[in-house]
Amino acid sequence: MKKKIIIAIDGYSSCGKSTFAKAIARELNYIYIDSGAMYRAVTLYCIRNGFIEAGIPDRTAIISKLDDINIEFIFNPDIGEFETYLNSENVEKEIRSIEVSSHVSAVSKIAEVRTRMVALQRQIGVLKGIVMDGRDIGTVVFPDAELKIFMTASVDIRAKRRYDELLGKGIKVDFRDVRENIVSRDITDENRDISPLRRADDAVVLDNSRMTVEEQMVWVRSIIERKINES
Ligand code: DC
Repeated sequence: MKKKIIIAIDGYSSCGKSTFAKAIARELNYIYIDSGAMYRAVTLYCIRNGFIEAGIPDRTAIISKLDDINIEFIFNPDIGEFETYLNSENVEKEIRSIEVSSHVSAVSKIAEVRTRMVALQRQIGVLKGIVMDGRDIGTVVFPDAELKIFMTASVDIRAKRRYDELLGKGIKVDFRDVRENIVSRDITDENRDISPLRRADDAVVLDNSRMTVEEQMVWVRSIIERKINES
């Protein structure tokens, strides 16, 4: 049997990390974990419990409730994918809302939230055979991951993809709002004190501005093969 590795994919918002990560996981028969979904689930919990006021999260309240926030990924055989559960409730749709998107960067800046999510992510990765995407997977969560990919694409292309995705889901939004949200999340993600988004020194860079998913798969296959043989 082929050795299983950890594939860490980091990069900017809406640059197709999850689409790419899912395609890799499907091909290798690995588990795909969307670490952003975990920060989104915590954010949803905070919104529902009134822990965010005027865009500012109440750190003390959130930290005191961290033990009450249970996040799981449960496989849905109908769609062949894992879905995010918050305290036993499927929240896969709700965590993608604009409201959650606009508060998630602030919530994910809280050190205690990150410590807890990172511990959970490492637990999920113990058996390897996973593809995890996020902002700090190759730098903090799995610094020894056998393969690290850092993804990027131009802001306009990312905004257009996100806009089309929301429209496709029947969510009406203004293109400028979507673009603005992406730019502001880039700034917060890159400049926060704890685990900022940055390329790990040993990550390979993939700018997919002008690439289809299949072209990205062609690019990554030989790299994966080499990493598995080296591991
Ligand atoms: O990947 P995403 O856009 O769904 O992530 C949502 C937010 O969560 C993103 O703005 C930053 C945060 N995040 C993080 O801080 N660390 C991660 N590993 C993943 C996401």
